[in-house]
Amino acid sequence: MSAEMEQHIARRRTFAIISHPDAGKTTLTEKLLLLGGAIHLAGSIKARKAKKFATSDWMELERERGISVTSSVLQFSYRGFAVNLLDTPGHQDFSEDTYRTLSAADAAVMLLDAAKGVEPQTIKLFQVCKLRGIPVFTFVNKLDRYGRPPLELMDEVEKVLGIACCPMNWPLGSGPEFRGVYDMRQKNLIVFRDNIFRDNKGGEPPIGERAVSLEEAEGEGLLCEGERDSLLEEVALLEGGGELFSAQAVREAKLSPLYFGSAMTQFGLRPFLDSFLELAPAPTGRHSTQGWIEPSREGFSGFVFKIQANMDPSHRDRMAFVRVVSGKYEKGMQVFCPRLQKEIRLANPSQLLAQERTAVEEAWPGDVLGFYDPGIWHIGDALVEGGDFSFEELPRFSPEHFVGVRAQNPLRRKQVEKGLEQLSEEGTVQVFERWRMGMKDPIVGVVGELQLEVLKFRMQHEYGADIVLERLNFSRARWVVGEKFEPSVFDWEGNRQTVQDRAGRPLVLFRDEWALEHAQNQHPELVFLPHAPMGAL
Ligand code: G4P
Repeated sequence: MSAEMEQHIARRRTFAIISHPDAGKTTLTEKLLLLGGAIHLAGSIKARKAKKFATSDWMELERERGISVTSSVLQFSYRGFAVNLLDTPGHQDFSEDTYRTLSAADAAVMLLDAAKGVEPQTIKLFQVCKLRGIPVFTFVNKLDRYGRPPLELMDEVEKVLGIACCPMNWPLGSGPEFRGVYDMRQKNLIVFRDNIFRDNKGGEPPIGERAVSLEEAEGEGLLCEGERDSLLEEVALLEGGGELFSAQAVREAKLSPLYFGSAMTQFGLRPFLDSFLELAPAPTGRHSTQGWIEPSREGFSGFVFKIQANMDPSHRDRMAFVRVVSGKYEKGMQVFCPRLQKEIRLANPSQLLAQERTAVEEAWPGDVLGFYDPGIWHIGDALVEGGDFSFEELPRFSPEHFVGVRAQNPLRRKQVEKGLEQLSEEGTVQVFERWRMGMKDPIVGVVGELQLEVLKFRMQHEYGADIVLERLNFSRARWVVGEKFEPSVFDWEGNRQTVQDRAGRPLVLFRDEWALEHAQNQHPELVFLPHAPMGAL
């Protein structure tokens, strides 16, 4: 490996923030970018949200509902590190897109609201990280408000998510009494630079922490009577009873470092980012059909983890987002696509640098490139220089909502077909056909119900076709595998139905968990898979 390559890999970090809506992900993202000097002024979150949503017409939907439906990638530099932050959609009714974005990350920051703790979406996203074995760093946010006791929050993470935590700092007070955090490794206090935080809601952000010893804090009147002793007692208890810090355990995803702070007042973010960049792994390799691919592999390789259509209405473009796994990307290079068994020239990629697309001349492992896609790429595609291998399949999650789709105007049928095909390639929806096809309408399955709204909206705005959705009374889908599988046996009307995916593999839709269990009991010789078997996409 060249020294240049080594340097680039060592100084890169690629991560995503996972959280339940309203925990403060937008705020944290914005403040992290600010620390990296990527945007000049934080401005109000709402202003930024509005700006972000203005980038595409179908994002009108997001604007209307005040939610983020899509996810983007931001790069900023901080203390010599190139940091790639993958932004995951934060609405509770989210899509597979979120899961897939995590496949491009090497670490995750799990953001919790101090008053709410672990929430449903946190659990779902954490499980995806766990499945992938990526390290999770926990940041408890909103300490400037009254929240739940820190010990209780730590306990909840450990019990509900089943991962040991190791506090890296410990808060001193909460709400209006929040004065800072005790740094468990440095054994000092980090306090607001001006000892105040309440005035920091508007105007220039303070970027303000400073470290003081406990004695100094007492001298400055930051600690009340007896508070020093009780803090030290609590710290001793944590050190005695808790998990010992181990950088290796963090990297192996066995231990989650726990931090407290407040994104809005920007308190604790700089120490957090310093510690995160030190502990988070540099870009890691990926499994492939030819074994483990190291980032230091000579030739370039990467995979498409996300496709997004019509990001810019004036160009009607489609972008394929590629995570670089190994080697160096150079503008205009030729790569091999194993699925197409074809060499393709990669032209004009762009990176999203703080929400603005900029042209990219080179990229390194861990980076994310957005390529203009004339419709050739599929999610999961590998791009390889000097080789012929594919990467481990990205998970497709079992849909839970199903509708029959038809064009309101039968003359727009072609547009509907084209739209469904593209949206299915993007991973917005999964499209199935009925087993006994006839002239029946296609069936669409989604993980989160919001995707149906997105489907309707995009069909209308991008493909000029109004569609009618007919709700189907199913909530479970299972790909069925087994030599003795006879699709027609399952094709009852009523509580189950056989369909096939776009690759022609049969799956059965069930009305509810009970109907699924019943079928499993009746057919112990068959395997019912919640995800498409290998070879899907
Ligand atoms: P999300 O992307 O995770 O959905 O959360 P977002 O950043 O939009 O934050 C949700 C709300 O929580 C916002 O308030 C935001 O100001 C607030 N918030 C984020 N971090 C902190 C923090 O450290 N302390 C406190 N007290 N609040 C925080 P909002 O009222 O919904 O929006 P806005 O009027 O403030 O823009």
